[in-house]
Amino acid sequence: MTLGDVSSQTDGHDPAALAREFEAIIAGGMRIEPRDWMPDGYRTTLIRQIAQHAHSEIIGMQPEGNWLTRAPSLRRKAILLAKVQDEAGHGLYLYSAAETLGADRADLNAKLLAGTQKYSSIFNYPALTYADVGVIGWLVDGAAICNQVPLCRSSYGPYARAMIRVCKEESFHQRQGYELLATMMAGTAAQRAMVQDAVDRWWWPTLMMFGPPDTDSPHSATSMAWGIKRHTNDELRQRFVDMTVPQAEALGVTLPDPQLCWNEKRGAHDFGTPDWNEFTDVIAGHGPCNAERIARRTRAHDDGAWVREAATAFAAKLRTLEGKAR
Ligand SMILES: [Fe+2]
Ligand SMILES: [Fe+2]
Repeated sequence: MTLGDVSSQTDGHDPAALAREFEAIIAGGMRIEPRDWMPDGYRTTLIRQIAQHAHSEIIGMQPEGNWLTRAPSLRRKAILLAKVQDEAGHGLYLYSAAETLGADRADLNAKLLAGTQKYSSIFNYPALTYADVGVIGWLVDGAAICNQVPLCRSSYGPYARAMIRVCKEESFHQRQGYELLATMMAGTAAQRAMVQDAVDRWWWPTLMMFGPPDTDSPHSATSMAWGIKRHTNDELRQRFVDMTVPQAEALGVTLPDPQLCWNEKRGAHDFGTPDWNEFTDVIAGHGPCNAERIARRTRAHDDGAWVREAATAFAAKLRTLEGKAR
């Protein structure tokens, strides 16, 4: 397969030669950098993926952020505060990475609020108890790690480099979740029941985070050919299940899937099929919290208008002062 359409921005160079150079960089496992020529399709695919990733980090602050004022101890509050702040940071790195491709941050934000760009379906589910904070860290951040570690080798340099730090922080998120759950599982029967209930509610939506099955994933093949993605949705889902089952055993929780069992022949776990109709519904905006998440994000954006105005005015003032000093 040829790797893409030829961009109109060839700067007078031979388009076919530019395309060959691009393909050679990808084939050699090297990185494409912002100033390199790239096919239009590569650029738009990356902008879509990075924007969706950035939006997920920002919207993802909401389910757990809701528990900040009700953390059960100062220690738990400090941990959760650090975690939620990390997610804001991830969003900002990723918006910056999208900007290196020529995307405009205000435009990306407008598309998020208008619903024309998506974020991960998982953040449309509610966090009902403090056990959910633990389960989100353990399962949701665990799934994010499976998805994101291979992105550290993504073919686009700024995205790959952003992922290195993001993954280190995700690893802390996963461990804090697991540690919270281990503490609760060593507590009372009521605490153990809370953990099991949260696991029951989050397990299937977490498996959906890897996206539709490979047979039904429209962008996968191109993203793999371009080295943007390194593994298919189903490969990553399998990796996550295999990684999580022993952790669930160590915690003493049951994963809510009667079909889950070790397959000696495959050397991997067999597991049931997520409810893909539910996934489609949530992506289409009909999940339990879609409207609430966007309404809250819109309010936060409006409330921040004065900060953006002040920062713009300050930057203009600095430019005037610098002009006078010259
Ligand atoms: Fe994150
Ligand atoms: Fe995280």
